[in-house]
Amino acid sequence: MANQISEELIEQIRSTNDIVDTIGEYVQLKKQGRNYLGLCPFHGEKTPSFSVSQEKQIFHCFGCGKGGNVFTFLMEIESFNFYEAIKHLAERAGIELPNDAINQESSLSKESQQVLSAHEWLMKLYHHLIRYTKDGKQGLDYLQERGITTEAIDTFQLGFAPNTKDFIATFLEKKGFHPQMLVKYGLLVRGQDDSVTDRFRGRVVFPIRNHLGKTVAFGARAMEGQEPKYLNSPESDLFQKGKMLYNFDLAKKHIRKQNEVVLFEGYMDVISAYQSGVHNVVATMGTALTEIQAKLLGRYAETVIICYDGDNAGIEATYKAAKLLQQTGCQVKIASLKNNLDPDSYIKEFGGDAFKREVLEASQTFMSFYMQYIKKDYNLSLEGDRIEYVEEILKELAKIESSVEREFYLKELSAEFNISVQTLLEEIEQQRQKLGAGKDKWEKDRYTNKVEKSRGKLLPAYHNAERQLLAYMLQNRTIADKVQEEIGVSFNIDDHKIIATYLYAFYEEDNPESVSMFIERITDEKLRKVVIELALIPTQTDISDKEINDYIQIIRNESSTGVSIKQLKAEQRLAEQQQDPIKAAQIALKIIELQRQVKHLN
Ligand code: CTP
Ligand code: MN
Repeated sequence: MANQISEELIEQIRSTNDIVDTIGEYVQLKKQGRNYLGLCPFHGEKTPSFSVSQEKQIFHCFGCGKGGNVFTFLMEIESFNFYEAIKHLAERAGIELPNDAINQESSLSKESQQVLSAHEWLMKLYHHLIRYTKDGKQGLDYLQERGITTEAIDTFQLGFAPNTKDFIATFLEKKGFHPQMLVKYGLLVRGQDDSVTDRFRGRVVFPIRNHLGKTVAFGARAMEGQEPKYLNSPESDLFQKGKMLYNFDLAKKHIRKQNEVVLFEGYMDVISAYQSGVHNVVATMGTALTEIQAKLLGRYAETVIICYDGDNAGIEATYKAAKLLQQTGCQVKIASLKNNLDPDSYIKEFGGDAFKREVLEASQTFMSFYMQYIKKDYNLSLEGDRIEYVEEILKELAKIESSVEREFYLKELSAEFNISVQTLLEEIEQQRQKLGAGKDKWEKDRYTNKVEKSRGKLLPAYHNAERQLLAYMLQNRTIADKVQEEIGVSFNIDDHKIIATYLYAFYEEDNPESVSMFIERITDEKLRKVVIELALIPTQTDISDKEINDYIQIIRNESSTGVSIKQLKAEQRLAEQQQDPIKAAQIALKIIELQRQVKHLN
């Protein structure tokens, strides 16, 4: 599969795509000691067990055991095959691949590839029409009227679908696409007389791109009040509203950098904000935020600013989204818009700077929003309702970890309801005890335990010696050479024998001391996991010869006594078969003696 791409090129691609940067596009990583830690994207977890080593260019999850290098990460997370991972990383690093490597097999079905290709052609055609032709002028006027710049029209590849019967149908059929497929994906419609015609007509077209930047659907907006306002592509295997966010592909690097994302409800909000310089913006597409979307955001940023329309529906949706995001572990802020404006009209009226300063930077904490939001459920002129309200707020406040923050809201409550801060403090302490507060620390301890446990399992001494020695050999060719001379592949654990064999061959070919490159050779997934685990064993930088010799000695002892014990056991069986119990008992004693020696040595 990859043979058209030379090993040197693969190596160049690997080394120009730093693993911390590449994984950093998917996972929020924090430096901890020598490694980077984050929440594993491959299994659900609230405390980080996912570790990335920049030095070794590998990753490993102590929770689910997944591990590998930059290629295997992409294959896993994007369901890419090896070639697609190479291609993606080459593009990312601006490395050109040889021509004959371009048309390699894809992990997508033939139909999906064609669907993507049809969308790309259409996107370009619609965009061309709006930018350069008379036929698209109506669309261009509409967007310009709404304050959208040509630069933004280009960035978002906005377009215009002319009001014709079969312009698109003819165009796509000429390109060789099958009408039945185009109907299935909602680009054409089939009439009663069985003819196919254009689906999006006389509308401004918003291409909807997936996280890799590929257009997988369109949203088409009416310009003169026709219904529906937006006509969207139907859901398909490539387009699922609940799993995607509009503009995620362009926004993700900004989200990551700012550790913050602004969440909108609509296409136009995103485009307006983006063109006015706020780039960390995404939107749901007319449906409530889903858990999948919340988790996606949580992986990229610590803080999510919800910026929905200021009307009632918007406020309800804000509350639901905020709850969901908090459950995912995000810090939530809420940006409110005055006068029932939506973000796009706010920006149009007051400009991008005001939007940044007066809306985003002035966004409220979830708690402040909540204190306001649930007032609708109470009649605060009634004593009973007032008490219930305060209790409800205290319940929520109890969940806040920072005591400074808790007190801040307590003071607000105290002032508003004329209750002493002391009383509120006592009340909240009780609530916190019920919750078992202070669990943060516990989570941290649990994490350290998990890591330690998986590293320093209680193994027999020779097993640990082999692991330690291999860890050094992976990092240091001289040590590997020495071990090769002394014991060759006489490790006691089979996996270790195989790894040593691979490693000696790897060094003999004059490869550098690079685990990340080394694991490329190991196709067996189980074995690869072992190598990664070994590579992550903490080692000293200046290990002495004596320590290496000690490890070698322990391994030798085990193999020699191991061999003789095996032999004695065979003799013992023989004696038993020959009905010679005395001889059998004598041999048994020898075995016990040898086993004792091994224990002592270890
Ligand atoms: N939406 C949709 N179909 C509709 C209405 C809305 O798919 N008939 C989706 C679109 O993704 C839209 C989002 O819901 O962007 C938010 O709806 P709305 O606020 O009504 O649209 P805006 O994005 O504000 O669009 P515009 O400013 O053009 O009215
Ligand atoms: Mn709008």
